[in-house]
Amino acid sequence: MGVFVKCDISIDDDVKKLIKTTVESFGRLDFAFNNAGIEGHSASTHECTEENWEKTIGVNLRGVWFCMKHEIELMLKEGKGAIVNNASIAGLVGFPSIPAYVASKHGVIGLTKAAALEYARRSIRVNVVCPGVIRTPMIDRFTGKNKEVEKQFANQEPIGRLGEPEEVADAVMWLCSDAASFVTGVALPVDGGWVAQ
Ligand SMILES: NC(=O)c1ccc[n+]([C@@H]2O[C@H](COP(=O)([O-])OP(=O)(O)OC[C@H]3O[C@@H](n4cnc5c(N)ncnc54)[C@H](O)[C@@H]3O)[C@@H](O)[C@H]2O)c1
Repeated sequence: MGVFVKCDISIDDDVKKLIKTTVESFGRLDFAFNNAGIEGHSASTHECTEENWEKTIGVNLRGVWFCMKHEIELMLKEGKGAIVNNASIAGLVGFPSIPAYVASKHGVIGLTKAAALEYARRSIRVNVVCPGVIRTPMIDRFTGKNKEVEKQFANQEPIGRLGEPEEVADAVMWLCSDAASFVTGVALPVDGGWVAQ
């Protein structure tokens, strides 16, 4: 069974409502994947507008923090939980012309590590995945669905192809599961080898 809740994660009241509805519908929250994010506009650092900065940081970093706040509050009452955030390889290395995105994703990794330490002794694990180039609508917006441009992206991946959303989901499911019971505070690249270069 699934439940749809309209939620803008950059608005605290929306996130509160999302978590409340989750508990009302399912009784408890065992794990959470904080996946929503935006790429923002492309512009070099001195040309990035304040509006683009605020919007991108607001969704990607503040939004993930709002989600964590309410999830952790609930998991503390329940006595355990696992949270996985979604950063990016752009949280581990720099990329030109998307300064707010890169800053927000580095921030998500820092936030993850801080929370992992805070809650480690209270049975809440917090980890973050760092996907490489994954075939989603976000990448379609970068490539314009142009096969040649997509091939250039694929060639930058050591593994020689784009990742599929399911390959990220598998890593997230493992981090959420008891199979990862001794894993917390980890920023896990799911990137076809990109950051090993
Ligand atoms: N696709 C990639 O190559 C790639 C690589 C690294 C990291 N990521 C990250 O993966 C996550 C998912 O991205 P994607 O590639 O599926 O992009 P996408 O644009 O296809 O999907 C993003 C989703 O986030 C939702 N969203 C955006 N702003 C929101 C908000 N304020 N509140 C609630 N939901 C919101 C959108 O509705 C959409 O469903 C993002 O955090 C992104 O930064 C993607």
